[in-house]
Amino acid sequence: MLSAEPSEKPQVETFLELKEIQGIIVSGYGHLSHSKYLFVQIESAEKAKDWLRSLLENQRITSAHWDTKPVSAVNLALTYAGLQKLNTSEDFLQSFPKEFVEGMTTPKKSEQLGDLGINAPQYWEKPYHPNSDAIDLLLILQAGAEALDALHIEYERQLEPNGLKLLTVETGYIPADSKEHFGFHDSISQPIIEGSPQESKVSNSTQDLTKAGEFILGYLNEDGNYPSTPTAPISQDKTHALSLLSETALKDFGRNGSYFVFRKIAQDVAGFRQYFQETFSTPEERILMMSKVVGRWPSGAPLVQAPDVDPLGDRLPENDFLANHNDFTYRTGDPQGFRCPFSSHIRRTNPRDALGQDVGESIKSSRRRRLLRRGAVYGDPLPQGILEDDGQARGLLFFCINANIRRQFEFVQQSWVNAPTFNGLYDERDPLVGYNPDGSDRTMILPHAPLSQRLSLPNFVTLKGGAYFFLPSLSALNFLAAASVQAQR
Ligand code: HEM
Repeated sequence: MLSAEPSEKPQVETFLELKEIQGIIVSGYGHLSHSKYLFVQIESAEKAKDWLRSLLENQRITSAHWDTKPVSAVNLALTYAGLQKLNTSEDFLQSFPKEFVEGMTTPKKSEQLGDLGINAPQYWEKPYHPNSDAIDLLLILQAGAEALDALHIEYERQLEPNGLKLLTVETGYIPADSKEHFGFHDSISQPIIEGSPQESKVSNSTQDLTKAGEFILGYLNEDGNYPSTPTAPISQDKTHALSLLSETALKDFGRNGSYFVFRKIAQDVAGFRQYFQETFSTPEERILMMSKVVGRWPSGAPLVQAPDVDPLGDRLPENDFLANHNDFTYRTGDPQGFRCPFSSHIRRTNPRDALGQDVGESIKSSRRRRLLRRGAVYGDPLPQGILEDDGQARGLLFFCINANIRRQFEFVQQSWVNAPTFNGLYDERDPLVGYNPDGSDRTMILPHAPLSQRLSLPNFVTLKGGAYFFLPSLSALNFLAAASVQAQR
């Protein structure tokens, strides 16, 4: 059950302070296919701090190098409301960015993110609904299918005696074939953090190697700057848990931490299948058109590289096939969008070199918006070939890590996913996850010579909830645990 103890000697030379960084930031824990997400409210800050200390003593949550793969992983994130309960200092609280403080459910935020109509927070499930008890803390438990229940029981049992009220539990998993519910291989194109153990796997030409400061506070980002970081007055750090922020008289609370975005997105799989069944006559055409919506074939092979036929068909990709086939660009590979339409999900969420006129600027801009996705699917799959809805809930627990919610997640959602005029288009939105504010069908143009094709797509997904979290470093968690005790003495 216990994760492997971190070894003293990291095998990869790195400038990242791995022992300080929560594991989920650096590793997707690909071998831990099942997950539970415990959304929790803090009822007693004093007890919660004691519990936090005991959790930290456990050492299960760091990114430190492991000699044998851990059989489970525990990570912990806090909302602004949670941080407020653990440390009431105004100096500390005011140092967080506005978007994190305000959260995801204000009317202005809904407008920006396009969380309107059926996606509006007023229709969200509890506890994400704005009138529900506030979520303070998120415990992320990951393990293999067999080990997960015991891990879940172990942690759920700890909550109540430690002043923590369980609001809800989400259950997620990575299917054996890595396919999300619409049937597409997911989580292929991921940024690789410079200095992380994964760096050694990257080939030189890839665009995926990204400066650590895009995902972890305290390191240089793609612009050569340090991301803005929340701080605490020196006087508050009585146990000297935090390091000094250079050239200031402040302690760096954010260092080695990051922001964690959550969206629970329900998928109408029957509706998705019905649309393609009714609109296109042959199975080949249906698969091609679905793939145009995503920008990849169900196997994960990109349309830019394989425009006509899925090179893998029903075969599962071997070893690093997909990682080795992520090194493509649009402007050189598909300037007219004949292969991968301009509006497809992957061309919007990471336009690579295709934004505007300047290739260099486009790559630079895309690299500044990258998201490190850590999602999992929820609900059982709708069996193959079934076109009727079975009434079961299913979808994606979308999680992503970014150092700047405004510049990264919110920008992608607002200006790429949901912007009708994205990159010169006219009145289109992301065909997979975008939303027309009035709920009407969404247009997607498939460029083709001599005539382009126009799809009119119904809505396939509905937002059921969401929240912004912070994933503190180990030192920052120690600081919070100690700060509370001191505040109460
Ligand atoms: C139910 C909802 C969603 C589904 C089914 C879905 C599905 C997929 C699939 C199949 C891929 C291609 C495989 C890959 O490269 O990983 C992909 C890529 C991606 N998605 Fe989504 N996605 C969903 C929601 C979102 C949302 C809400 C965002 C961000 C706002 C997002 C951002 C991305 C990004 C950044 C990529 C990688 C693009 C690239 O680098 O080429 N996705 N998604």
